[in-house]
Amino acid sequence: MATSNVDVTDQRIARIASSIRVIPDFPKPGIMFQDITTLLLDPKAFKDTIDLFVERYRDKNINVIAGIEARGFIFGPPIALAIGAKFVPMRKPKKLPGEVISEEYSLEYGTDKIEMHVGAVQAGERAVIVDDLIATGGTLNAAIRLLVPKPIAERVGVTVVECACVIELAELKGREKLGDKSLFVLVSET
Ligand code: PRP
Repeated sequence: MATSNVDVTDQRIARIASSIRVIPDFPKPGIMFQDITTLLLDPKAFKDTIDLFVERYRDKNINVIAGIEARGFIFGPPIALAIGAKFVPMRKPKKLPGEVISEEYSLEYGTDKIEMHVGAVQAGERAVIVDDLIATGGTLNAAIRLLVPKPIAERVGVTVVECACVIELAELKGREKLGDKSLFVLVSET
C-alpha cells in the first residue's frame, strides 16, 4: 500500500504514486525495484513532484540542495533552481575531480562511499538533501555526515533542514537512521 506524509488529499500524490513502475527481481531476486523513469515520462507527474518539494522549501532560507548520485541529480537541480539555492552533487567515489571529503556507509555485503567537493558548502548554510528513494537509510545517513562532519564542526557547520525523497520503503525503517533529522516523502510504500 502506498501512503505519504504530504497532504494525502492532494490529487497530485495519486498521480505520482501510480506513475512509478515496480520491477520485480531487479537488480537481483527478491528486490522490488521502484523505477522512477516512468514518472519522468509523465510531464505532469514530474512537474507535480518538483512543485510539491518547491512548495515545501521555498521561503525557508534554504541555500543548498544536495543531491545524491544518481537519481538525486534528476530531482535536485529543478528544486534548487526554483528556490534560488545552489546544487551540490554528492557522488560515488572517484568521480569528483577536486579535493573531496568522503563518508562510508554499509551495504548488504561490504561498504560504499559518497563524496562531496571541499568548499561546496559554507558554515551557516541551510541544506536539504534530495534523493529518489530511502531504503535502509544508510546513504542519507552518510550524506548528513558529509554536511555535518565532525562534532566540532557541527557548532559552525551546515544545518541539514530535512531529507527529501520521492519514495520511502517504510518497512526498512530507514528514517530511524537519520537521527534528529526529519524526512519528507511523497510516497511511502508499506
Ligand atoms: C538507491 C537510491 C538511493 C539508495 C537508497 O541508489 O537511489 O540513493 O539506493 O538506499 P539506502 O537507503 O538503503 O541507502 P543505488 O545505491 O541503487 O545507486 P544508484 O543511484 O547509483 O543506482
